[in-house]
Amino acid sequence: MAPAEPLFANNRRDSSIHSEERAADEDTALLGGRRKDSGSPLSRASFWREAGLFTWALIATAACIVLAVFTQHQGLSHGSGSDHQAPSKPTGKRNLIFMVSDGMGPASLSMTRSFRQLRDGLPIDDTLVLDQHLIGSSRTRSTSSLVTDSAAGATAFSCGLKSYNGAISMLPDHTPCGTVLEAAKKAGYMTGLVVTTDITDATPACFAAHVNMRLEEDLIAQQEVGEHPLGRVVDIMLGGGRCHFLPNTTDGGCRADDNDITKLAQEKFGWSYVDSRKDFDRLELGNNVKLPLLGLFAERDIPFEIDRRNQNDVYPSLNEMAQTALKALEDATEDSDKGFFLMIEGSRIDHAGHGNDPAAQVNEVLAYDAAFASVIEFLERSDDEGVLVATSDHETGGLSVAKQLHPLYPQYKWLPEVLINASNSAEHLAGRLNNHIAQNGKGDKLGKFISEELVRKGLGITDVTEKELQLLIDNPPLSVYTFADMISRRAQIGWSTHGHSAVDVNIYGTAGSDALRGNHENIEIGKFLRHYLDVDVKAITDELVEKLETFSMSSTAGDSWTGRIPSEEDMEQASNHYQPHHG
Ligand SMILES: *[C@@H]1O[C@H](CO)[C@@H](O)[C@H](O)[C@H]1NC(C)=O
Ligand SMILES: *[C@@H]1O[C@H](CO)[C@@H](O)[C@H](O)[C@H]1NC(C)=O
Ligand SMILES: [Zn+2]
Repeated sequence: MAPAEPLFANNRRDSSIHSEERAADEDTALLGGRRKDSGSPLSRASFWREAGLFTWALIATAACIVLAVFTQHQGLSHGSGSDHQAPSKPTGKRNLIFMVSDGMGPASLSMTRSFRQLRDGLPIDDTLVLDQHLIGSSRTRSTSSLVTDSAAGATAFSCGLKSYNGAISMLPDHTPCGTVLEAAKKAGYMTGLVVTTDITDATPACFAAHVNMRLEEDLIAQQEVGEHPLGRVVDIMLGGGRCHFLPNTTDGGCRADDNDITKLAQEKFGWSYVDSRKDFDRLELGNNVKLPLLGLFAERDIPFEIDRRNQNDVYPSLNEMAQTALKALEDATEDSDKGFFLMIEGSRIDHAGHGNDPAAQVNEVLAYDAAFASVIEFLERSDDEGVLVATSDHETGGLSVAKQLHPLYPQYKWLPEVLINASNSAEHLAGRLNNHIAQNGKGDKLGKFISEELVRKGLGITDVTEKELQLLIDNPPLSVYTFADMISRRAQIGWSTHGHSAVDVNIYGTAGSDALRGNHENIEIGKFLRHYLDVDVKAITDELVEKLETFSMSSTAGDSWTGRIPSEEDMEQASNHYQPHHG
């Protein structure tokens, strides 16, 4: 059926260009004295000329005001192509929750939705909570590449500025840029960071630290607890990455030096410190928290949700940590006229993408969706105003929800039941394979162990081929990719890379985030955050730049507190940051 109107008529009907044209037509009519409804005689032309001039002056004045307001909000509405009004700043107490689904592109949503519908017997139109809050999309390139990394991606959110891959809230000229979290803290808000990876990893680091290279996690840990030119800027941090806070003299430490940052945090900056599930349970989901609180529940990453749920007595979930932070910050700001800023990251959607592991990924996305739902519930029950904005820094893996396996004809299907059958991630199974070989060598029984314990029980695959088995035996270090490929092929899920991709990612938001409707540059999301909180980030930048030379930390290996300036080689490494075994 042919549409009754040209295809783009629908867009034009609402567009501001169209209404400007209409306004211009009306102006012309007024100036020319051709008011159709007036029926005024020609002899009264001079009256209309005077009236017209007066009206023109009025319109010109109004236009100047409109233009000024538009210019002021340009950073927010520029390029969105929508017809929304410039947002008005809220005036009262308010909370802002910003969620990041690291590495989650649009295909992850389609894959997860279908997975859950089949697993739980839900109807075709059943959606994720996220789906119900989709408002736009974000363009993600950095200054150094069309394909961003999480550091440049998070700098766009924290500073509202583009930078190079690897930059932790530093600009291409290697000066620090103030972050929305730092400005919020200074303005009297409480602040928090919740993640499932290392709390020193790029996304959380960008809100509370400044280093030239994301690999400087020792420096990031120190800045995050308060060895920072502005002092301590975070009130609650929950996640993994404990090893970056422990000295090189202890078993669980991965610092290059012998500083104990957990001790520094407690003794010098007053943090409460917890590091186990038992400690976490004592927090009573935020009802029993003394801020500032540092909770580091894993040496490195918290395990993928698909593995974690079998070790629920060891590691808290993203949702539990998010609920704890929301409650603790809500209570801590109860008597304040300022609310809080909380960043929550579904960090490991990205890792499942790097590993090309669809079974791990759907469970990560569902865990993120559950945390997202908790934030929505919080906003609904809270007496204070608040907004949730959620987006991704980039897509990972070049995920495609179909894969052609046969040379001649593509099949129009993919098979979520393969993912339902899996009970472990490829990462977990590769870890077990490598441990098994380290303990038992490559004996006769290795094949049986792999096909029974790992492939059948772990991956849920009953038709392992001789070739796959041989590859796993011959090349155990590569097994994380072999396991993931075995499951991807059988599910007919495609991947184009073990790295990131340049595809636009989704923006989600609750009422009050209308400025982010439509397609935006990622820095516009960063600008929205500071605008919503009405905080002065420029003053923070000025202070940081002023202290670039003068501030010093207890341990910086002789460099500035912002660490070494990256060489070409470092830049190369920054774009290859992900190592499946954290080697
Ligand atoms: C541990 O750190 C100290 C400096 O803080 C250094 O002198 C020492 O060599 C380090 N030890 C190891 C094993 O890296
Ligand atoms: C899932 O597991 C069941 C039980 O082991 C098996 O019968 C079925 O074939 C598996 N499905 C797929 C798609 O692998
Ligand atoms: Zn990544």
